[in-house]
Amino acid sequence: MKDSYGRVIDYLRISVTDLCNLRCLYCMPEKGVEKREHKDNLSVEEIEEIVSAAVDLGVTKVRVTGGEPLVRRGILEICRRIGAIPGVEKLCMTTNGVLLKKHAAQLFDAGVTRLNISLDTLDREKYSQLTRMGTLEDVLGGIDEAFRVGFSEIKINTVLMGGVNDDEIRDIAALTKDRNIHVRFIELMPIGECAQWGPERFISNERVLEELPALEEAGVAGVARIYRLPEHRGTVGLISPISSHFCPSCNRIRVTADGRLKPCLHSAEEINLRGLQGEELRHVMSEAIFGKPHRHHLDEAASSSLRHMNEIGG
Ligand code: GTP
Ligand code: 5AD
Ligand code: SF4
Repeated sequence: MKDSYGRVIDYLRISVTDLCNLRCLYCMPEKGVEKREHKDNLSVEEIEEIVSAAVDLGVTKVRVTGGEPLVRRGILEICRRIGAIPGVEKLCMTTNGVLLKKHAAQLFDAGVTRLNISLDTLDREKYSQLTRMGTLEDVLGGIDEAFRVGFSEIKINTVLMGGVNDDEIRDIAALTKDRNIHVRFIELMPIGECAQWGPERFISNERVLEELPALEEAGVAGVARIYRLPEHRGTVGLISPISSHFCPSCNRIRVTADGRLKPCLHSAEEINLRGLQGEELRHVMSEAIFGKPHRHHLDEAASSSLRHMNEIGG
């Protein structure tokens, strides 16, 4: 269906847990993350009901997010059930990749068609510092395993942070050389943990273009502007929520792990979907889609979202 600005909404991002096995500096606080009770998270049946309603309203692409979706109990069953809903054409997942070595084959069998993996540095020590508890080899091994079990392409999400990983742009882009890996550099958005970080950390994706003058334009895909390095198999994408507003072409809605629909990542508005079913659920969701805000206002202030990124899933 269309929202009130004529944007076609066909993409649902559903968070299945706010828990994560990492604590990326920009995303989650080190301590004091309250563990929600299991019953506070949507059940498999509730997820199925919400996705079905979204499909009835025109959604064809579903992305499972977290926190880290692979720490959710029953994640494979969740994927299977979503994938079996008629009308779901693409079932995608955004993961930190740490548990992929173990789960890639099962995910593929469960019907997941695309994986996006968060990876902000290729330096072992930096990775452990940035994630506070992660091991780089786990992610790199997870990527290898995903290709081995049959995923035909993988997207790598790299959040660019001044003074942290902007010295690695070339190395990270080089991941696209031989395999079907698509790297996307993402501008850091002031939301949750990093909302109060200094301005030096928030750098424009123009830096990527300066660093890699050989990049050739190759179109647009979703929220990313796509480029390619000569002779490279994969592509380099720029997701620039701050320097180039992509809100006018936004096609997505989000659902948090506790069942709140967020029509916009950066707005405080949330609509409780819990306890709703069938026609009533469809009605509430369609009203929420129709009321989707026009744009974010990150150029004027930090995000209005009341949630940390781990509760929304990006
Ligand atoms: P594809 O479906 O493969 O294109 O993935 P995607 O970019 O939709 O999803 P992913 O989970 O990989 O998100 C990549 C980055 O884009 C994350 O940092 C998200 O927060 C950011 N992003 C995704 N959608 C939006 C959006 O609607 N608004 C803003 N401001 N950022 C978004
Ligand atoms: N700004 C930009 N991207 C972010 N992500 C998490 N927090 C932020 C932020 N503040 C990214 C993660 C992941 C995706 C789902 O969102 O790195 O790749
Ligand atoms: Fe976990 Fe992703 Fe947040 Fe990192 S960015 S702490 S991997 S939810």
